[in-house]
Amino acid sequence: MIKRIRNPFKFDEEVAGEFFCGRENDIDELSDHIFNNTNIIMFSKRRIGKSSLIKEVLENHTEKKVLQAHVDIYSVSNTRELFTKLQDGIKMSLSYELTTIEKASIMVNDIQEYFKNSKISMVISGTPELKIEAGDKNYYIAIENLFSDYFNYLRAKNLTFVFAIDEFQKIVSLPDFEKIEETLRTIAIKRKGLGSFVFTGSKRNILLGMFNEVSRAFFKLGSEMPLSPLDPDTFYDWALLRFQRKNIFLDRTAFRHLYDEADGETRFIQQVCHDLFRKGKDASVIEYSIMEEEINQLISKKSYIAQLFNKYTVPQQNALKIIVSCNGSEIYGKEILEEYSITKTSLQSAMKALLKENTLFKEDGVYIFEDVEFKLWIKKEIKKG
Ligand SMILES: Nc1ncnc2c1ncn2[C@@H]1O[C@H](COP(=O)(O)OP(=O)(O)OP(=O)(O)O)[C@@H](O)[C@H]1O
Ligand SMILES: [Mg+2]
Repeated sequence: MIKRIRNPFKFDEEVAGEFFCGRENDIDELSDHIFNNTNIIMFSKRRIGKSSLIKEVLENHTEKKVLQAHVDIYSVSNTRELFTKLQDGIKMSLSYELTTIEKASIMVNDIQEYFKNSKISMVISGTPELKIEAGDKNYYIAIENLFSDYFNYLRAKNLTFVFAIDEFQKIVSLPDFEKIEETLRTIAIKRKGLGSFVFTGSKRNILLGMFNEVSRAFFKLGSEMPLSPLDPDTFYDWALLRFQRKNIFLDRTAFRHLYDEADGETRFIQQVCHDLFRKGKDASVIEYSIMEEEINQLISKKSYIAQLFNKYTVPQQNALKIIVSCNGSEIYGKEILEEYSITKTSLQSAMKALLKENTLFKEDGVYIFEDVEFKLWIKKEIKKG
């Protein structure tokens, strides 16, 4: 039988512990905010590592007496579903001692004492689980009551909490978002001294709009924490050590090429490393050309991208190619416009549409693709000619 070595690179789930790389300062900053009960608004472009950072800090850098919840509201489409997600979070955070049935039944009674507005029970299938049934069908009131009871419980038990709500910008897309924002604001204010909320998202402008506009309920309700890509040198050293487990040498220039091509996107870099580790032979070297080939192969496998590209109008397709050709800046040059047979006005309106629907965003005057795989696919197409 072949002796297998566990692949140290993960790309398809949030990571913590031994699969988590770097971010010492970010860990410290987030832990400090949690320690001081400050709300945090964390944002970065997609797949950089927001959820993983939260997981790492909650699992490995937070004291036991801080109850934890981490929910993702990406799939929520109405107030009832939001309520259910928040309720799941509270259940998660209260389940810290539900190790045995005996302990659980004591806890159920104990919790019920403070949760005056809900019915608390226990479900036993495998490990015991809490069940919370809200008394009110008005979901704004139910959300407020739920947290109010939760805070009473924490106060009585001398505990604190951290409650992370991932993809928080989703709130804005709900029909009654203003009312939801008000409800959550009331909760965030009532929590004072008891803990903190971590609001995260990848739509920087929407998220910051919520917290920085005077007219909005969330105005000044948290401390901003932009998350940058991992430091390339730290990432290289970390990956180098892991490839050594299979006696593979990772060339620094090859890794840097991957990092630059991926615009520092952690997930894509991890996926390439995962594949290279899986295929790598004993005593092999990953040099620049191997890296280039691996990136190409991975992009070729993403069959959804061709369909995605064809959904754009022809001027938008040209605009996307121009962005790639010009590395995101100085896109209105005479020569490039001629090469792609597009007028400046037509390119301008295509760009407007691409920015509006978040295919691209602009950072320090440079246009960047939200989906790095899409950028690399277009690059490959341009090369083919
Ligand atoms: N610090 C890290 N060390 C190692 N791998 C990481 C790290 N951060 C993220 N990853 C990898 O990148 C992938 C994407 O990270 P994660 O889901 O945490 O990002 P995100 O910013 O929350 O993404 P999204 O915007 O899609 O929610 C993870 O599945 C994980 O494999
Ligand atoms: Mg996430």
